[in-house]
Amino acid sequence: MFERIERVPGDAILGLIEAFKQDPNPEKVDLGVGVYRDAHGNTPVLASVKKAEKRLLDNERTKSYIGSHGDPEYGRAILSLVLGAHSPVLAADRASATQSPGGTGALRLAADFIRSQLPGKSVWLSDPTWPNHLGIFEAAGINIERYPYVSDDNRLDFKGMRDCLASIPEGDVVVLHACCHNPSGFDLNAEQWQEVLEIVKRRKLLPLIDFAYQGFGDGLEDDAYGARLLAENLGEAIITSSCSKNFGLYRERTGCLIMVAQDSEQMQNVRSQIAITARENYSNPPAHGAAIVSEILGDEALRAEWEEEVTGMRDRINSLRHDFVEALRPHGLSERFAFIRDQRGMFSYTGLSPEQVDRLRDEFAIYMVRSGRANVAGLAADKLDYVARAIASVVD
Ligand code: LMR
Repeated sequence: MFERIERVPGDAILGLIEAFKQDPNPEKVDLGVGVYRDAHGNTPVLASVKKAEKRLLDNERTKSYIGSHGDPEYGRAILSLVLGAHSPVLAADRASATQSPGGTGALRLAADFIRSQLPGKSVWLSDPTWPNHLGIFEAAGINIERYPYVSDDNRLDFKGMRDCLASIPEGDVVVLHACCHNPSGFDLNAEQWQEVLEIVKRRKLLPLIDFAYQGFGDGLEDDAYGARLLAENLGEAIITSSCSKNFGLYRERTGCLIMVAQDSEQMQNVRSQIAITARENYSNPPAHGAAIVSEILGDEALRAEWEEEVTGMRDRINSLRHDFVEALRPHGLSERFAFIRDQRGMFSYTGLSPEQVDRLRDEFAIYMVRSGRANVAGLAADKLDYVARAIASVVD
């Protein structure tokens, strides 16, 4: 039977990891997959994580199952990190947390919930968005629609977004990026979030807020502005949170699905459905990453150390943004690429075409996603001039 199976191209983002590894060019630069890199190009284990792991190793007493919702302590810690320690949503007991295998796992749970409990509803994704959003919702059998997000001249197209959201059929799901929009790096400001809230309310839409980069934009609290605004002012919302980036726990697959309902009673009903969805997908989530996060967030000193590490990662990315625009100045390109300074998070939508991206890879061994997305964190200081020169030669 397998003779009829066709080979398909690999994932556009994860495929770059392998291609980069195999490139023998000593000058190669990896601006592909979204992982943080330090000044030496490494993706280190955070010091706070190492300390938490040591404690876990000493204190762990069992490897037994943790249940479909995962560790309740982790759930409480993430609810408070995402919604705020003094959140009225938490005070009203109307938010539920389910530990998930990464943010991707949380998205898949949300997708399965939408498919089975809200049949016929479409999911609206920003154009562009993280390519796997399409994969996840499609795999769950959901109809996908798009709303504009980036204009042809590579700016946030808020007018296009707003006008489109205002015409979405009642009850449909709209996926919003809480901060550090992937792939564009263009985020909504407070006023724009307020407008989105009004439209979502008026159109009775269900927001699904993908929150994969908390702490990488303007700060752990600031980055939560939109997610908290919507959760506090709407009866229902879905939030998918990830600890991959801010805790550097990529391969530990540590995420959380947050379901916000009208009241405690409805939240418990929704929660019961999510447990079944998790059970049918993978039964119980992996435990280790979430145990690390609980350990860190539950200990004042470790938490302070982690917050400092997040600040360090964020500051480095933001200063690289400035330095990169400066590196482009001698080539007369600093104005053209000035938007890189204003984008937030790991990614920058450069506006480079797929052909230009291919030339960067073939002629300079610089790897980025063909959409023109570059991982700014991959720009080591000693590579800035090399990358700037390469870009200058492909845009001319
Ligand atoms: C990315 O967008 O590069 C990251 O979120 C990694 C991934 O899974 O695609």
